[in-house]
Amino acid sequence: MVAIAYTVAFDGVEARLVEVQCSVSAGLPGFGIVGLPDKSVSEARERVKAAFGALSIAMPSRRVTVNLSPADLPKEGSHFDLPIALAVLAALEVVPAEALERVVSLGELALDGRLSPVTGALPAAMAAAEDGRALIVPRACGPEAAWVAAVPVLAPRTLREAVDHLTDRAPLPRAQPGELAETARAADLSEVIGQERARRAIEIAAAGRHHLLMVGPPGASKSMLATRLPGILPPLTPQEALETSVIHSVAGQLAEGGISRSAPFCQPHHTASMAAMVGGGRGARPGQASIAHNGVLFLDELPEFERRVIDALREPIETGEIHVSRANAHIRYPARFLLVAAANPCRCGEIADAGQTCSKAPRCGADYLGRISGPMMDRFDLRSRCRRFRLPTWACPRPAKARPRSPSG
Ligand SMILES: Nc1ncnc2c1ncn2[C@@H]1O[C@H](COP(=O)(O)OP(=O)(O)OP(=O)(O)O)[C@@H](O)[C@H]1O
Ligand SMILES: [Mg+2]
Repeated sequence: MVAIAYTVAFDGVEARLVEVQCSVSAGLPGFGIVGLPDKSVSEARERVKAAFGALSIAMPSRRVTVNLSPADLPKEGSHFDLPIALAVLAALEVVPAEALERVVSLGELALDGRLSPVTGALPAAMAAAEDGRALIVPRACGPEAAWVAAVPVLAPRTLREAVDHLTDRAPLPRAQPGELAETARAADLSEVIGQERARRAIEIAAAGRHHLLMVGPPGASKSMLATRLPGILPPLTPQEALETSVIHSVAGQLAEGGISRSAPFCQPHHTASMAAMVGGGRGARPGQASIAHNGVLFLDELPEFERRVIDALREPIETGEIHVSRANAHIRYPARFLLVAAANPCRCGEIADAGQTCSKAPRCGADYLGRISGPMMDRFDLRSRCRRFRLPTWACPRPAKARPRSPSG
């Protein structure tokens, strides 16, 4: 007999339905998983066997084969543990096969049968709703998935609780959506003294979603201004909040299942790799550019970033999407962000400040900012020169006169 359970595989930030087929047949005892599983999916075998021990169920001494269909879609992540366990239990007639027909499940199994949280519960709930099935997720993921009101979400703590629900021994209550996440009050633009021109540039960038580059010497408040930009952005619309939360869910960044209406603000360090910035890599996680979707991507010390990492942002700036191609997959991530960047005018930073001149000027300035390619420079609608703010003389304490030293010291 072939038992079937349902789960999802992530294709970028979209959840695609996957059938987990299990057959128990005569032959040499063994447990095999096929259907393009990666290492974390193949390791499910050991976790499932151990979790069965916690249920006092022994693996049959026959050949157990699990197929993840469609077989040409790569499967990554530990969330396949629960559907694999349920499909095997249905093949052993511990769980009724009809009960599994009606649910999509995902969750990582601990060796003692506990269900550990996984990423992507929110898009999984959307896929389950589209398919007209209920969703079983680990307890910690319940509040996040329950935001999709069209799907009944059940959130067991352990494999035993999931089995008891499916066998009608102890039906689980529906999970409730998490709180609307209140982000801590953003830093306020009113804390910036003076800098009228730079503040105006920040306000225009926020109002018109114009990409902004600030150039100025160290201490000219470039970083201070940029981090205060989210404070003047309007809250996200419900549609934008959902889009952004789906990305954060896949990236495992939805704190306690709460959806936030504040625009995201991402500030990757200048050592960020290509995968960290645009996504992909192991686990096909979204990058910082996607996590900043509908919000602000702040690149401080722009010329210090690797040039190809900055240039990889040229496509999403134009299209609002990132396409990552791999040997066996083509992944699309949404990435519509407001790009704010800050740079010193030259390596030592002093070339443009009034009263200070770098000895290597103007060559050092051209070399330093020349690290940013022309087409990338062209994508900044606004370029603002920041100067150091100097307190008016009346506000400065008069420096104490240097006293001549006495010969005794
Ligand atoms: N206009 C200002 N109003 C209030 N504080 C300021 C202002 N300019 C600078 N500061 C103070 O100086 C600190 C340094 O400023 P900030 O880090 O924003 O400079 P920066 O232009 O980013 O310099 P760097 O090029 O070294 O990164 C701020 O944290 C703040 O305390
Ligand atoms: Mg700075």
